[in-house]
Amino acid sequence: MSKTLQAIRGMNDLVPAQTAVWRVVESRLADIASQFAYQEIRFPIVEQTELFKRAVGESTDIVEKEMYTFTDRNGDSLSLRPEGTAPCVRAGLQQGLIVQQVQRLWYTGPMFRHERPQKGRYRQFYQFGAENFGMPGPLADVELIAMTAQFWQSLGITDAVHLEINSLGTPAVRQQHREALVAYFEQHRDQLDEDSQRRLSTNPLRILDSKNPAMADLIASAPALSDYFDEVSTAHFTQVKQSLDTCGITYRVNPQLVRGLDYYTHTVFEWVTDKLGSQNAICAGGRYDGLVEQIGGKAAPAVGFALGLERLILLLEACDKTPETSAVVDVYWVCVGDAAVQQAMQVAQTLRTAIPTLRLVVDAVGGSFKSQFKRADKSGAAIALILGDDELASQSVQIKYLREDKPQKTILFSELEPCLSRYV
Ligand code: HAM
Repeated sequence: MSKTLQAIRGMNDLVPAQTAVWRVVESRLADIASQFAYQEIRFPIVEQTELFKRAVGESTDIVEKEMYTFTDRNGDSLSLRPEGTAPCVRAGLQQGLIVQQVQRLWYTGPMFRHERPQKGRYRQFYQFGAENFGMPGPLADVELIAMTAQFWQSLGITDAVHLEINSLGTPAVRQQHREALVAYFEQHRDQLDEDSQRRLSTNPLRILDSKNPAMADLIASAPALSDYFDEVSTAHFTQVKQSLDTCGITYRVNPQLVRGLDYYTHTVFEWVTDKLGSQNAICAGGRYDGLVEQIGGKAAPAVGFALGLERLILLLEACDKTPETSAVVDVYWVCVGDAAVQQAMQVAQTLRTAIPTLRLVVDAVGGSFKSQFKRADKSGAAIALILGDDELASQSVQIKYLREDKPQKTILFSELEPCLSRYV
């Protein structure tokens, strides 16, 4: 026998028991997004590598070491999307959705990063994201945060997550801060680990994100971004905080929150949980006012977030809040003889047309009544229909209630529709 092939490490199958839960969760998220007037957009899984280099940043971990990049048959460098914001902006621009108007978009689908797999961290993972274009003010930031708060509320996990926010200010503020940071860390170069020494010339802000305990004191005393804030940066962040207060959304300001992607300006935020170990960020995002122009469009303000669906589902499990999924089958049709199966198939088809939500299976495996009833019971169906020679002759069927204490009865085919409608 040949060797069984396995999925790629860090890339998971989802079996029906899982997809049923995912569907409930995804549709809940989509419903809430549409409550906020966000509309779905779909874009390809593969884009030009250049897009991510320009948007996410050449010196970020994602672009430097995590992208699945390959040369296609035309010799172009392409990458599997590691995130959705850059392609969303690219698609929004290409389709004329972002020009001089407010646009609210959401998306969902797989993203790819070559990270070290562990619980909550995968190489193919799913995000649900939303992006808002054309609203420069802090209310757009709060609108998105409010949407995410609504997700947790709807899924019953508000108590399991908390919101961290920070502001990265305007690009000018960041530049001044960057210079001050480089000067400070240069002075203490001997205390930096290898990774941070490298980042000093490529992406010094990311040193602040280091989890190395040996550098904790050094990082704590580093020049704070907020010390360089101009009026615009201060006003934007103050209004975000005030507005969150008004909406009753609690948060913690975390000056260490800098995010791993280069495009952010002003507000950044993360919803974190202490129930999932080290992969604790469920949802993250922020404002990225410079990105649309950077990708080649006319400058437009923008803000968005993405949540990790695997992490959300893991969190629901940890909180014992996995949503109920409905039975797969409502009605299971047991038949004796070929003619009965043929007739049942035909009637079943008219019933499915008449009752669109009806989930009906005709047993096509056959065998004894006993084995068919075993399958009917296992299917979770509420009702079994029985069709044998006698019933076939009289164009009727016997109804057996599998989950209720009700007597079996015989009804005509023509009475099936009103009878079964009550069970869906
Ligand atoms: P991100 O922080 O890289 O941001 O990812 C967002 C979320 O995706 C994370 O909080 C996490 O829940 C999930 N996630 C990330 N990497 C993995 C992984 N390897 N395995 C499982 N889940 C993962 C972005 O992607 C930005 N595009 C968010 C954004 C949208 N900012 C503005 N608009």
